[in-house]
Amino acid sequence: MLAAAAMCLAACNKAPEPLTPEQSAALAPADARLAGLYETSCKTCHTVAGTGAPLAGDRTAWAPRVKQGPAVLLEHTVQGYRAMPAGGQCSGCTAADYEAMIGFMSGGR
Ligand code: HEC
Repeated sequence: MLAAAAMCLAACNKAPEPLTPEQSAALAPADARLAGLYETSCKTCHTVAGTGAPLAGDRTAWAPRVKQGPAVLLEHTVQGYRAMPAGGQCSGCTAADYEAMIGFMSGGR
């Protein structure tokens, strides 16, 4: 039931709905290399309640951030933004990796 809901959020293009941290943590980027990088970086905050980070897959939480545009989101990832650490604690990530992770976390586009 929970897994089915998470799969649907990743695969279906339905209206945005809030995710629980458990549902968020069940999601992963489809690409295996990216999923490995994600597991040890973004995921440690972006699936955890109370970190202040918008939960991965929660398009409601990401919507106002996405409005800033992809260039601003990438810049905030690389340079840091308030409680978001510069580089997102991923030393092996390229700009393309960050863009893919941002796309995945903000709604799976
Ligand atoms: C140590 C915890 C932590 C890690 C690790 C982390 N983030 Fe974040 N991230 C945050 C927090 C907290 C915010 C919310 C900052 C705010 O708006 O106050 C955030 C916000 C963001 C934003 C939105 C910035 C904006 O302009 O609204 C993006 C994009 C982002 N993170 C990308 C990433 C990516 C990509 C990774 C992995 C490579 C990552 N983060 C890893 C804590 C983290």
